[in-house]
Amino acid sequence: MGFNVYVTRAIPEPGPAILRRACQVVDVNPQDAVLTRAELLQAVAGRHGLVVTGQDRIDREALDAAGDALRAVANYAVGYDNVDLPAMTARGIGFSNTPDVLTEATADLTWALLLSAARRIAEGDRFVRSGRWQGWGPMQMLGLDVAGRTLGIVGAGRIGCAVARRSVGFGMEVLYANRSPRPELERQCGARRTNLDGLLMRSDFVTVHLPLTEQTRHIIGGKELALMKPTAVLVNTSRGPVVDEEALAVALREGRIAAAGLDVFEAEPTVHPELLRLDNIVLVPHLGSATHETRAKMGEVAAGCLVAMLKGECPPQCLNPEVFRGP
Ligand code: GLV
Repeated sequence: MGFNVYVTRAIPEPGPAILRRACQVVDVNPQDAVLTRAELLQAVAGRHGLVVTGQDRIDREALDAAGDALRAVANYAVGYDNVDLPAMTARGIGFSNTPDVLTEATADLTWALLLSAARRIAEGDRFVRSGRWQGWGPMQMLGLDVAGRTLGIVGAGRIGCAVARRSVGFGMEVLYANRSPRPELERQCGARRTNLDGLLMRSDFVTVHLPLTEQTRHIIGGKELALMKPTAVLVNTSRGPVVDEEALAVALREGRIAAAGLDVFEAEPTVHPELLRLDNIVLVPHLGSATHETRAKMGEVAAGCLVAMLKGECPPQCLNPEVFRGP
């Protein structure tokens, strides 16, 4: 008891109720907007715990602003490129994320983008609304077959594997590029492991499921897009900077690949202006985990983790368990 926590963005129940039950002070950012840097630095001062989103940068400066009382930070996201984990560990601050609970929703959204890009759904919607549609035509808005084609999964973690599992109903061949083999995935969908270049050359649909690190930044750039088939589709629901947007815009404009679907962008909420001009790309505003059920579960996990860490316990989602180990 006696914990003082701050939540940088209003999150759905039951997260707030869990926090209120266990903590003395629970302050929530009252605006439906990301805190400015100055607001964040001010809001975290003197807190024991924080629930933050992927839009909040929790670096040394933010940890300094929070001060010595800070014991735990819970990320309301699975990706944690927004935080300096080693700095938290060095200060004995526990840190957790929200894996598992958003896997299926993100895999669904990946498929929504894949199918939309292949079958020109967003473009067709714009066309119908424009009032220019004159009726069915044999050559009208032709897209790409999905069934029976080859799906390439770049990064076969939880989400990549969930995306692959969904391909079974489409009778697809599955390739994956991953640091380690995934025997389970190979059993479940006959997936075959290959290197990135081989995957790019052979896949009809390439979908990226990598965390953002210095090694993965722009891992899909001009050279990689050039390896893809001119009929191929690229989907990214991981982190924007994993794909070089400038190079993607060139590849789409020049027909070096057929289409793309993006849920994430290099400088959110800014989207590369060239991408906004293209019809062969579907753009959605970082909706991977955006379902009622999933966002509620993420709140439950984040709040539960924060309370556990404040009590000195180490929840399974904690990414620096060493902080909780005795001397
Ligand atoms: C969202 O992008 C997440 O990492 O959960």
